[in-house]
Amino acid sequence: MRMRKVLLSFVLLAAAAACDTGPKSGYGLRLPEGEPDRGRQVFIDKHCTSCHEVIGQEPLREGVDPEMTVYIGGLTTKIDTYGQLVTSVVNPSHKIAKTYRRDEFSSNGESAMRSYNDEMTVTELIDLVAFLQEQYEEFPDDSYYY
Ligand code: HEC
Repeated sequence: MRMRKVLLSFVLLAAAAACDTGPKSGYGLRLPEGEPDRGRQVFIDKHCTSCHEVIGQEPLREGVDPEMTVYIGGLTTKIDTYGQLVTSVVNPSHKIAKTYRRDEFSSNGESAMRSYNDEMTVTELIDLVAFLQEQYEEFPDDSYYY
């Protein structure tokens, strides 16, 4: 009986691991090293500040007339992997945290955050992610191991 339980947990573990690393998973996604300072500038230039307050970087919002306030950084976040961070920028509606399923932030599962995919270069994205990554405390620096 005990053996069966042990076996079953192995099977379940293997299944879970397969989901994380399957052909359609984000496993192995790794952007090149970015430049956080340039990313900060992208954040300003693309007006991310009209909806976001970056914890500890309040001056970024000076002179901005805010549309809404979604906090980025600190420990308050729902983001805990590198993959989730990249996803939150290029595919914001993929998964909307419970806190933001209210009308001001999303409607019918669509995030109020618009897509920047047609107006941002890959280099800008890389730098932006480097900047954002620095804002999160205890953020895993490199969640992907080959
Ligand atoms: C019109 C408002 C709006 C703009 C402009 C906007 N966002 Fe967002 N953003 C949101 C909302 C709403 C959420 C929360 C819902 C979701 O997950 O999409 C969010 C979530 C995020 C998150 C996840 C935050 C967390 O810790 O949970 C990141 C990172 C982010 N945005 C980055 C950006 C960047 C970078 C830009 C500029 C290129 C940007 N956003 C522009 C509305 C906006």
